[in-house]
Amino acid sequence: MKLPEELQFIENARLPQKTTPARLDGRLVVLTGATSGVGYQAARCLAQGGAHLALVCRSAAKAANVQAELQRDYAAQVDVVQADFTNLANVRQAAQTILAKYPRIDVLINNAGLHNTHRQLNQDGIEMVFCVNHLASFLLTRLLLPRLLESAPARIIQVNSQGHRFGGLDLDDLNWEKRRYKGLQGYGASKVAQLLTVWEMADELQGSGVTINAMHPGEVRTNIGMNNERLYRWYKRYLLWWMLKQPDISGSAIYYLAAAPEMQSISGRFFNQTIDEKPAAHALDRALGKRVWQISTALTGLAAAQPIKEQL
Ligand SMILES: NC(=O)c1ccc[n+]([C@@H]2O[C@H](COP(=O)([O-])OP(=O)(O)OC[C@H]3O[C@@H](n4cnc5c(N)ncnc54)[C@H](OP(=O)(O)O)[C@@H]3O)[C@@H](O)[C@H]2O)c1
Repeated sequence: MKLPEELQFIENARLPQKTTPARLDGRLVVLTGATSGVGYQAARCLAQGGAHLALVCRSAAKAANVQAELQRDYAAQVDVVQADFTNLANVRQAAQTILAKYPRIDVLINNAGLHNTHRQLNQDGIEMVFCVNHLASFLLTRLLLPRLLESAPARIIQVNSQGHRFGGLDLDDLNWEKRRYKGLQGYGASKVAQLLTVWEMADELQGSGVTINAMHPGEVRTNIGMNNERLYRWYKRYLLWWMLKQPDISGSAIYYLAAAPEMQSISGRFFNQTIDEKPAAHALDRALGKRVWQISTALTGLAAAQPIKEQL
């Protein structure tokens, strides 16, 4: 029985995933959140595929362990840039470090992410999940974009989520002051905002040689949510855990999107791991997307909205 279009993602998760024998020798890949889960698995695949990695991580100690492991296992070239994405000034600093150090960037993978069950604000008064999952990746991408364009062909991959289907984005209440915060919807809001900016950016980048796509890495066993209260941690560890898959599938999917030659000119799409998929209708609202773009530009302190190419 064929599922209705809005439930197709359930079927897609069961399809065989694509892989590629292509290698990334000598390519510079910037990857955020490589110290755990999906990002860690992606780092392993990318290192094995020969990429030179710049890992943007909040914990210098954890990042040093991953770096040592990748050097030992794959003789990979791995650098670490420290940044806490709850702080947008930190993101700017990381971008500056990367721009100063690397004359080219072949792939940018925005993976770092967070799920909070309770509302928290960062030091600038921005809801934390929206800041880490959407604003930080938006800002990092925009700041690194000139170098990606100079390096074309280049790819941007936004590690998004089926969680975008939970909705929750209200541009008049991004900080959840008018509504009771619900973790899944707070998470959903951040992922919807990110998706909407992917379509905007893909349009702007048409013909530039730089592509941008979003992906869902699968429902996998990682540490996401383990920063929350004991009851949630118990639920995740002892109930949810058994429904989740091993996270190596996520690393492999990200590698495919980063390396496969057939992905070179595909842009502005959402992938369920490696399967091209239609996102939820509310994440395809282009008028809303233009407002998200403007608000995100303002909240991250970027120049007023104008075509990306004119900002270079
Ligand atoms: N797991 C799933 O089933 C699933 C499903 C859909 C989408 N995703 C997406 O996959 C991505 C990775 O999540 P995961 O499941 O691998 O979770 P995870 O195991 O918790 O890993 C998250 C990564 O993001 C980093 N991070 C978190 N907060 C940060 C901050 N404030 N500043 C900088 N880095 C920060 C973490 O660093 P630390 O190691 O220091 O904590 C870690 O490296 C997220 O975007 C998530 O939304 C996951």
